[in-house]
Amino acid sequence: MILITGGAGYIGSHCSIEFLRNGFDVIVFDNFSLGHKKIIDNIMFNYPNIVLFQGDLRNKKDLDIVFRKYQIDAVVHLAAFSQVKQSILEPEVYYENNVLGTLNLLSSMVKNNVLKIIFSSSAAIYGEPSYIPVDETHPKNPINTYGKTKLVVENIMDDYDLAYGLKSIRLRYFNVLGANYKENIGEWHDVETHLLPNIIKSVLKSKFKFKIFGANYPTFDGTCIRDYIDVEDIAEAHRLAYNYLNKNNKTDVFNLGSQDGVSVKQMCNLVSKILDKKISIEYTSKRQGDCAILLADSSKAKKILNWKARNSISDSIYNAYQWEKILESFS
Ligand SMILES: NC(=O)c1ccc[n+]([C@@H]2O[C@H](COP(=O)([O-])OP(=O)(O)OC[C@H]3O[C@@H](n4cnc5c(N)ncnc54)[C@H](O)[C@@H]3O)[C@@H](O)[C@H]2O)c1
Repeated sequence: MILITGGAGYIGSHCSIEFLRNGFDVIVFDNFSLGHKKIIDNIMFNYPNIVLFQGDLRNKKDLDIVFRKYQIDAVVHLAAFSQVKQSILEPEVYYENNVLGTLNLLSSMVKNNVLKIIFSSSAAIYGEPSYIPVDETHPKNPINTYGKTKLVVENIMDDYDLAYGLKSIRLRYFNVLGANYKENIGEWHDVETHLLPNIIKSVLKSKFKFKIFGANYPTFDGTCIRDYIDVEDIAEAHRLAYNYLNKNNKTDVFNLGSQDGVSVKQMCNLVSKILDKKISIEYTSKRQGDCAILLADSSKAKKILNWKARNSISDSIYNAYQWEKILESFS
């Protein structure tokens, strides 16, 4: 069985379906601090081979129970807090959840002889790039607490490999978007900080304006440039990473992105064109902890994992829009 922490969240739910679709049994471990039980119900509707375990990584007992109760082959670890601004304001909460929570998980794994983990790392560990596209050997200088928590965890994983032979694949993803609306899952954050859902909300809700944080970055149109990658492509990378780990029993790290830079303004224009709707925009000041440009070099994942992004940004936008309409019907 594959244990997926954070499986009731956005990316975790897509990873759950990816493994289930490919014949694996899945246990979702989630405390529903940010994820939703309804997402698991939606998955269960099509895939009976999923078990839900409501637990918290900060509670060692929860982890001990789950590892003792089930025959777990590998862990896909997504559970974390990931809001940049909140991480800067509340570092204790972030270190406790993302770092201590992961330490508890790794200790339970070692205790129960489960020695394979796929970890959701992040492009945030690189900080302001000194060259682009950013490859895996780029210096790691995170500029916010969130990114620092991910880097600490990667370092802990190296030490666990040396000491206990725990092998990890760290997937450093760039900006994830899209949804699998046909199976009723997608991005569902009570406080939404991500770009595309907020642009779509400005289309669907007449009073909601989409905020652009900073329009004087050193980029061609003054807004931040990011590398967007579809959530179903990200999910597939987890399964390929699992296969790789199973076969090679070797710790490694991979960037996951599209290597296409899209500015915030360009994203607004794309959404406007694809949905044939006007976006209502409000310009506000820059946010702390945002860098101007981030672009991934994902050639290593393509070469070694045989992974490639299948969905275009237009597909992701369309799917996210369909999902956002479903989400509206929940409330
Ligand atoms: N969304 C992105 O663009 C992006 C980019 C890079 C990396 N990541 C990483 O991917 C992972 C998943 O991101 P997401 O966007 O799906 O986030 P999400 O908030 O939708 O999902 C996180 C899930 O983890 C659960 N969780 C959090 N703390 C927990 C704990 N202590 N115990 C048990 N469950 C807990 C939440 O309830 C939620 O279901 C995170 O680790 C994030 O840092 C996301």
